[in-house]
Amino acid sequence: MKILVTGGTGYIGSHTVVELQNKGFEVLIVDNLSNSSAEIVEKIKKITGIKPVLEVFDLGDREKTVGFFKRNSDIKGVIHFAAFKAVGESVEKPLKYYRNNLVSLMNILEGMSETGVQNIVFSSSCTVYGQPDELPVSEKAPIKKAESPYGNTKQISEDIILDTIKASDIQGIALRYFNPIGAHETALIGELPLGVPNNLVPFITQTAIGIRDQLKVFGNDYPTPDGTPIRDYIHVVDLAKAHVIAVNRMIMNSMKKPFEVFNLGTGKGYSVLEVIHAFEKVSGQKLNYKIVGRREGDIIQVWADPSFSNKELGWKAEKGLDEMVASAWKWEKAYRAENK
Ligand code: UFG
Repeated sequence: MKILVTGGTGYIGSHTVVELQNKGFEVLIVDNLSNSSAEIVEKIKKITGIKPVLEVFDLGDREKTVGFFKRNSDIKGVIHFAAFKAVGESVEKPLKYYRNNLVSLMNILEGMSETGVQNIVFSSSCTVYGQPDELPVSEKAPIKKAESPYGNTKQISEDIILDTIKASDIQGIALRYFNPIGAHETALIGELPLGVPNNLVPFITQTAIGIRDQLKVFGNDYPTPDGTPIRDYIHVVDLAKAHVIAVNRMIMNSMKKPFEVFNLGTGKGYSVLEVIHAFEKVSGQKLNYKIVGRREGDIIQVWADPSFSNKELGWKAEKGLDEMVASAWKWEKAYRAENK
C-alpha cells in the first residue's frame, strides 16, 4: 500500500517513513529539501533496507502537486509534515509562513479531491491549546488564540481540513504533538536544525559537543516547582509509530467520524532543569548553562492527557526521558563524527 509522506526527509517525517516501511507500506516522499537533505533517503535505506522514492518539488506549486497526484492516484493515504516550524521566524516573516504552510495544504487537498485519494493525516501541534486552563490538556480543551503565525497556521490548517472533509469524501486525522525529541536508535537519523537551534534538546546536545558555548535557560521564576517551564517531551519514534496507526485506522475504515483529533504526548511533564539533569546523567558530563530572562511567548506549563489516544488508537508512548535524551546525544555524536 502506497503512502505519500510530505516532508519525509525532515525530522519527524524521516522517522515516520522508517516505521511505515517496517510495517510493509510503500513510501513516496515529496520534499523541497528547504530544511533537510536528500541523503536522508540513504540513511533510511541503511535502517530498513528499502530506499524510499523521493520527488523533490515544492508543494506550493499547484500544478506540480496536482500532477503528482494524477501520476499516483493509487496512493492510499497522505501524511502531511511539510511545513515551516520556527515560532520566532514566523513572527518576523508571517507571510512566508502563511503562504508555505497553507497553500501547500490546499494544493494537497485539491490534488486528493481531483484524484480520489481520501485519507490525510495532518501534523498539528499542542500549540493550538496555548496555555490551557486545565492540566493535563485533553482534546476537548478550547483552542486559544494563537501566540504566533506558526501556531495560527496549525489552527487554520485544521479548519481547512475540516471544511474540506465536510464538502467531500476526504477523511482526516489531526495529530497534535507535544514536544518531540530524541532520535532513531541507530543514530542514522535525528533532528538536524539549520543554524542556531531554537529548541531545547538540540541546543543542549550542540552545547555539549562544543558547537555552542552555553545553553541559556529562559527564566527560572515561573510558578513551577523549580521555576522553569514544564513540557511533555515525547520520543520521536513513539510519535512516528502513532502516524502508522493513524493511517492504518483510515485505510481500514475504523474512524468514528470523518475528522478525528488526537493528542500525542506521554502525559508526564518535565521542567527545563529536569531535562538538563537527565542529559547530564546519561551523558556523564556537566552542561554549561546559565539562567537568563524569560523568552517571549513561552507558556508556563503544558502536558497531555493522552488517554483518548491510548484508548482509541491503542497507542502509548513507551520511552522515558532518559532514553529520549540519550538517543539525542548518541545521534549528535554520530552525526558530528561523520561530518567533521
Ligand atoms: N528553552 C531554553 N533554552 C533554549 C531553548 C529552549 O530554556 O535555548 C526552554 C524554553 O524556554 C521552554 C523549553 O525549553 O521552556 C522548551 O522549549 P522548546 O523551544 O524546545 O519547545 P517549545 O515548547 O517552546 O516549542 C514547542 C515546539 C513548537 C510549538 C510549541 C508550542 O517546538 O513547534 O512547542 O508551545 F509551537
